[in-house]
Amino acid sequence: MSGPAVSGHASDGDFDRVLVVDFGAQYAQLIARRVREANVFSEIVPRGISAAEVAAKDPVGIILSGGPASVYAEDAYDIDTEILNLGIPVLGICYGHQILAKSLGGTVASTGLSEFGPASLTVTDGVCLFKGLPEEQTVWMSHNDAVSEAPEGFTVTASTPDAAVAAMENTEKRMYGVQFHPEVGHTEFGQHVIERFLDEGCRVRRTWTNASIIEQSVAAIASTVGDRVAICGLSGGVDSSVAAAIVHKAIGDQLVCVFVDHGLMRQGEGAQVEETFRNHFKMNLIHVKAEDRFFDALEGVSDPEEKRKIIGETFIRVFEEVAEGIDNADYLVQGTLYPDVIESGTKDAAKIKSHHNVGGLPDDIAFDLIEPLRDLFKDEVRSVGEELGLPEDIVWRQPFPGPGLAVRIIGDITRERVSILQAADAIVVEEIREAGLYREIWQSFGVLPAIKSVGVQGDGRTYAYPLILRAVTSDDAMTADWARLPYELLAKISTRVINEVPGINRVAYDISSKPPSTIEWE
Ligand code: XMP
Repeated sequence: MSGPAVSGHASDGDFDRVLVVDFGAQYAQLIARRVREANVFSEIVPRGISAAEVAAKDPVGIILSGGPASVYAEDAYDIDTEILNLGIPVLGICYGHQILAKSLGGTVASTGLSEFGPASLTVTDGVCLFKGLPEEQTVWMSHNDAVSEAPEGFTVTASTPDAAVAAMENTEKRMYGVQFHPEVGHTEFGQHVIERFLDEGCRVRRTWTNASIIEQSVAAIASTVGDRVAICGLSGGVDSSVAAAIVHKAIGDQLVCVFVDHGLMRQGEGAQVEETFRNHFKMNLIHVKAEDRFFDALEGVSDPEEKRKIIGETFIRVFEEVAEGIDNADYLVQGTLYPDVIESGTKDAAKIKSHHNVGGLPDDIAFDLIEPLRDLFKDEVRSVGEELGLPEDIVWRQPFPGPGLAVRIIGDITRERVSILQAADAIVVEEIREAGLYREIWQSFGVLPAIKSVGVQGDGRTYAYPLILRAVTSDDAMTADWARLPYELLAKISTRVINEVPGINRVAYDISSKPPSTIEWE
């Protein structure tokens, strides 16, 4: 393995860049997304970043995020104050506002007046951030300490009953601070405040659009790959599909997509991959029909971890065999997203991993990585996917586990049981779509347990499997709640599944949240 991963966007291009200094991960991500919604590239950097490192990134603006701590706590997060002398416009938010005040000679006090939730903000001076906004507005607060005195050169521009310096500005130095959270939806004019900082404070060019993201990426990938070949493992999910579509736009036939079909996909998925990538995009697609191999390896295995291990290993072996037969294949395309990059970068301060093996591929089949999505959030990936003309079905597909239906079939995996689950699952997906709920539900699917129960159908007694229906809402799969599906929808799914799928005579709805349950059953 050699060389850094190629993403082809901001890291290589000429988008204006706003840095978001991370004092609390969720706040920082939300701010970064709001900046991007204004079509400006944002990059999250760890709070320990030095002024020299900031300067090297050549940002047009810096936002100091909120965070959970107190600036006076013993282990309070600090910044390299030289960052504030670089002449780059700064916006401090909540904790960032307090750091800004404290670093520049203002006073932050523990007033004993905490504010959590909505507050009434009174604008006293609408020079920059509040220009054009009403004098009274609702903002979202979450703080204990408060700035009691703004630093010299700053004008107090807004206050709330419990925060005298709820906002301050130094227009000459182009430094701004707000105690409230403009990045959250509950702050009435939050996006406006952020955009005023970007436009007036930073004078950004708003060029971070789907078309320009694609254009930059395509140019960088084409020049990196040259006349070599790149391989992409396609799963049919949104990330690998969008990554493949971008790389294909850059290098055409020099991209070889490998779709390892383990026979545990949802109904019709293999056909859709064929239709989209081979027929529509005319990509070089190797569809490896490895079903027999996977079923043989899984025969008699019912332990969930063992199933995962067998599928993972068989997958790698199959992929490896195909890859070895492709000439000049120096690059591997991966669908790494920005949240993965942030996570690995902030775990231990500044180090962001530049490449790693896909799914545990052994080191001796070494590739340089192309990661066209490594600067993008999931919603940006979807939007770029739409721009590239990928079908709605793929762009908005719900997450699906790598081991596929194997972890949704409890006990032995047989062809018959896979077919039963595929047929039932297809009805679930169809009805959820029909009800207009497919996008808002994180995952919705069927699970086939290893039990049978008695039923009566027509004139006869049946002894068949139940289908467990699982539908959850979630933001990130770390926690989830069971979806409150309408009774009518549950009734329709139940009736259809029992009538249309031989082998199922009962439907039950899983009403457990995560934790303590998990989303999948295995
Ligand atoms: P759990 O069941 O742990 O699932 O709540 C969380 C999310 O991860 C997906 N998942 C997997 N994805 N390989 C994957 O690629 C796996 O082995 C696997 N197990 C669970 C699951 O669908 C959910 O989105």
